[in-house]
Amino acid sequence: MSDISIPEKWRWFPQARFGIFIHWGPYAQVGRGEQVLIREWLDHREYAAAACRWNPRKFDPRQWAATARLGGFRYAVFTARHHDGYCLWDSRLTDYTSAVQAPKRDFVAEYVEAFRAAGLRVGLYYSLADFRVPAYLEGPDINPAGWRTFCEYVHGQVRELLNNYGKIDVIWFDGSWPRTREDWRSEELVRMMRGLQPDILINNRLGKPAVKPAGPDHYKNMLEDAGHSRELGDFGTPEHSITADPGRLWESCQVSTWRLWGYTIGEHWRPAELLLDMLVDAAGQGGNLLLNVGPDADGVMPPEFVERARVIGDWLRVNGEAVYGTEARELPDTVTLGRLSCRGNNLYLILRFWDRRLSLRLPWLQTRVRRAALLGSDCPLSVSQNDWELTISGLPPQMERMLFPVIRLECDAPPAVHPSAGKSPLWSDHPLCYVPWARRRGESVWVDGQAR
Ligand code: GLC
Repeated sequence: MSDISIPEKWRWFPQARFGIFIHWGPYAQVGRGEQVLIREWLDHREYAAAACRWNPRKFDPRQWAATARLGGFRYAVFTARHHDGYCLWDSRLTDYTSAVQAPKRDFVAEYVEAFRAAGLRVGLYYSLADFRVPAYLEGPDINPAGWRTFCEYVHGQVRELLNNYGKIDVIWFDGSWPRTREDWRSEELVRMMRGLQPDILINNRLGKPAVKPAGPDHYKNMLEDAGHSRELGDFGTPEHSITADPGRLWESCQVSTWRLWGYTIGEHWRPAELLLDMLVDAAGQGGNLLLNVGPDADGVMPPEFVERARVIGDWLRVNGEAVYGTEARELPDTVTLGRLSCRGNNLYLILRFWDRRLSLRLPWLQTRVRRAALLGSDCPLSVSQNDWELTISGLPPQMERMLFPVIRLECDAPPAVHPSAGKSPLWSDHPLCYVPWARRRGESVWVDGQAR
């Protein structure tokens, strides 16, 4: 990604690296995720009646924003409307909204205001899909007139969201499947959004192309099938996976539990170190992590999430320079050490485990290193380097911060790897880079094929 040019207006996004995804709506009352309406074929009338009664009195987005700050998140994406169709803002196009029904509040307005006041960038998630609407389910071929009306409704709601709440930094579409970008009139939608919000970042879930691209690219085809577009949208959104989307901005969206995004009663939580590992994995590859939480039906963030946010935030306050604003570089796998990230002339070694060694060797770094430092500690480190390897000495036998200590290597230039040492050279096509190393071994027990 270092070789793609990012417009000035979007530079904040790779700087931010860590976003909080908030899935919240009347489905939190059921407590089995955001898609329970369709997954369990719930009775529509009962679901809607419960949604209209839903009145989350503890919703306080200032509290949410405080949790986001605590966790070191730099931006947020909030579900203005999910697939169940309930709107968390004062939409004039329907009365199925938090403004008209029990809460009598515009939750989107309150969220935007609180997060902005806390210094976070604000994003809105909007589901194109609406499981209540038969015309949506039938689609344009079966019900062209119904689809036209539905599509107008969608465009009109997006217009409201981008017109009425000041500057929105990210709009995050979802649920375009199985329709095409032509069905959704996505290009027109993008033009409208750019007109209203010239700086906005638009995600890539704007509908699959009408004609499937030819070629054997399985990954690409899979994404296209899921409605992820390469041509439309400003950033890629790999889901449940941390896979770089080369040539453009990208953000991996992940749950902090198992599979569901909305509040789930009794679900198990991923440990903080796993969530942190996902963040450094994405940042090391030049991408963002959008980490999800589903607040409960009253509007309270689950304490399990807050606790994890605290751990990650504490780590970021010391080691954040290894995450915020990192750049993608071709770096080797360092599975015996942990993860790597780069920013400017700095290379960060993010140590997943500390085996109490007093020195550490890197055999693949070509760039000269001036200084090494253990972040958050005043322990003096020294470096020595020759053409063959870099050695960092003076590491403490005990690490005060056991959760992923970080060593910063300040280099003469942007860190580069010996040309022969590609990524994962052993099982790609570069085992040749190991030949000089193997030759240094000298005499072999197996000499020229002759047994002794
Ligand atoms: C999937 C799910 C949806 C969720 C989204 C988040 O598309 O259908 O429920 O909101 O992932 O990326």
